[in-house]
Amino acid sequence: MNIPLPMNTSAESWPTARYVDLRPSSESFLGAVISGLGAGRKSLPSKFFYDERGSRLFDRICELPEYYPTRTEMALMTDIAPELRALVPEGAELVEFGSGSSRKVRILLDAVAAFAAYVSIDISGDYLKQMASALACDYPALDVLAVSADYTQPIDLAHWEGCSRPRVGFFPGSTIGNLTPEDAVAFLENARRILGPGGGFIVGADLKKDAGILHAAYNDAAGVTAAFNLNLLVRINSELGGDFDLAAFHHRAHYNQEKGRIEMYLVSDRDQTARIDGHSFDFTEGETIHTENSHKYTVEEFQRIAERAGFIAQRAWTDENQLFSIHYLEVSSD
Ligand code: AVI
Repeated sequence: MNIPLPMNTSAESWPTARYVDLRPSSESFLGAVISGLGAGRKSLPSKFFYDERGSRLFDRICELPEYYPTRTEMALMTDIAPELRALVPEGAELVEFGSGSSRKVRILLDAVAAFAAYVSIDISGDYLKQMASALACDYPALDVLAVSADYTQPIDLAHWEGCSRPRVGFFPGSTIGNLTPEDAVAFLENARRILGPGGGFIVGADLKKDAGILHAAYNDAAGVTAAFNLNLLVRINSELGGDFDLAAFHHRAHYNQEKGRIEMYLVSDRDQTARIDGHSFDFTEGETIHTENSHKYTVEEFQRIAERAGFIAQRAWTDENQLFSIHYLEVSSD
């Protein structure tokens, strides 16, 4: 069911950007941890990486020499901006799914320049407000709305005054790769409904490539990705009163050729038991907790996923080293 904005919202005025809160009632970190670690093959959802410390570690990953996606996507976006400008309808509303990429949005706002409004949708409240507010200050002609919501769920933006404008979505960073292909189709179907008829979607997707490049990107020499992965256990200890011995687990990332994805794990160094909130979890030496998938797609594979979700794959660009792709999708009319 769609949620109409003016009814279920606590709309408040923010210095320069408007803000609406459509967050689901608090999603249980504890519930996800208990069920993930209680399963036969232990896992934890990757979305829980991003508390404040995890977000800072991710920012550091983006600067690492081995982690090519961020800098490659930004350079590619700068290069293709004139072509994007020709595709984006004049006066469109730019709708960003996730707000962690203010630098990338600014490339679009500066170089594509056709946008009349910017809507940022993100589950986090405070960071979203800060980012939207800063953008509203720097782009005074831009109508800015921050929507705190789970963007994998239906969101009805129709009641915002900007509703008559065409919408162009933005989902950079290959975050779509962290979903399974089936969940990526479901996410894109939901995004298509949010964007509506006449809409477009700019999506960044990491390309399939030599496994050595991928291995280096997810096993960096400085150990930042390892710290990012282990941060899940840090969070369980500090927020849920867990007693994980952080020194008794290590990071592992490898490329699963058959599934076309990097898989990240935390590996137990010995037989041990961890306790969380009255529950106990036994680990054997070498046993893993699966913490993340990062799917890599050829241009054609990604276009097929977009088409299954009801988009027309209008254009795709890749960098000269064939590391990363940016897609422009259009909402099909049926
Ligand atoms: C956010 N996401 C696209 C990153 C990725 O590459 O899958 C998260 C990440 N995990 C380890 N390094 C970066």
